[in-house]
Amino acid sequence: MRVDGKNKVMPAFTVTTSSTRYDAVVERGVLARVSSFLPAKLSRLFVVTTRDVWRHHGARLQAGLRDHSFEVLYFTGGEHRKRLAELEELAEQMVRLGADRASCLIGFGGGIVTDITGFLAAVFLRGIPVLQIPTTLLAQVDAGVGGKTGVNLRGGKNLLGAFHQPLAVLADPDVLATLPTREFRAGLYEVIKCGVIRDAALFADLATKALDVLAAKPAALDSAIAASVRIKCEVVTADEKEADLRRILNFGHTIGHALEAETGYQEFLHGEAIAFGMKAATHLAVSEKSLGAADGDRIIACIDAYGAIPPTRHIAAEALLARLGSDKKTLHGKVHFVLPTKIGETKIVNGIAREAIAAAIHAAHA
Ligand SMILES: NC(=O)c1ccc[n+]([C@@H]2O[C@H](COP(=O)([O-])OP(=O)(O)OC[C@H]3O[C@@H](n4cnc5c(N)ncnc54)[C@H](O)[C@@H]3O)[C@@H](O)[C@H]2O)c1
Ligand SMILES: [Zn+2]
Repeated sequence: MRVDGKNKVMPAFTVTTSSTRYDAVVERGVLARVSSFLPAKLSRLFVVTTRDVWRHHGARLQAGLRDHSFEVLYFTGGEHRKRLAELEELAEQMVRLGADRASCLIGFGGGIVTDITGFLAAVFLRGIPVLQIPTTLLAQVDAGVGGKTGVNLRGGKNLLGAFHQPLAVLADPDVLATLPTREFRAGLYEVIKCGVIRDAALFADLATKALDVLAAKPAALDSAIAASVRIKCEVVTADEKEADLRRILNFGHTIGHALEAETGYQEFLHGEAIAFGMKAATHLAVSEKSLGAADGDRIIACIDAYGAIPPTRHIAAEALLARLGSDKKTLHGKVHFVLPTKIGETKIVNGIAREAIAAAIHAAHA
């Protein structure tokens, strides 16, 4: 947390890795000073965005870029477009527009845009700088921070990628006002995840102020975003490449990913699938005696307080179990679960019996 010249509290968190150090800023109106985060020596500047985001917020970004000239590269959103062919097309456009090693990219959009823009920056001329300006809640608290970039293959999500840390991450909660309610709620489930894995105070706030957070009241929402960004920064700083601590971010993701894959990425937004996965993992934590029943009830109640996810009952537990072994998070054929031990702490467990996992999935359907 920092205090700027006018004594306004401005949360800026820092990610430090072996190769770099950068800020993640959570601040209403930060778009107005984007220029100050760009490299001093800059030839061409490219903004990768989708037409909807540009229509809503392009003018504000343009104002913040002031005297910088830049080109807008439109990317047609959607998970099925997060592909190498689209990345190649963006790169071809950059070459036509005279991009060189002193060029810089800005990823201005949801997680799909920040993922593909980050990967484009990682591989264009073997690496150019990227500034990430995430515009969905999910991207502000998760995808935009941490330098994991990538695209999908037909065989699975995010199977091609690179670690490429940005110059900075600018999360402006003002842009969330235009986000569809369902996308907003899906992002909030990842915020709840942050509370469960690492911050009991954040969790307590989310549980008691659900109505204010859901209504996007700045007093409740901004501190929840800031806490989540701080947690992501801390975790990435401790473990950039997901060797150890970063795996706690996968709470709810073992079964959540199985649910997304089983339904062809059509029925659930990522955050919704993770909400289901967190409920199943919480039931599992209680049945495996990792977590007390009272804390388990509090986690389930908090997730439920943020609204119902689409129906899951038609999806058989067996089908999800069959998917677990093929998740890319599987190491040496073992399925890992991130299980809470109390609110704010987790442990990683493997070798859990199939029957126990199936029972937890059934309980989560309820
Ligand atoms: N790199 C990582 O560490 C990481 C972590 C989590 C998720 N991800 C990736 O993030 C992606 C999902 O991101 P997402 O949930 O942000 O989805 P998304 O990028 O598809 O955005 C959701 C929709 O909201 C629109 N949108 C974005 N900002 C808006 C705004 N301010 N107002 C109105 N509409 C807006 C988008 O155009 C899109 O239609 C997935 O591909 C996932 O793999 C990456
Ligand atoms: Zn996630």
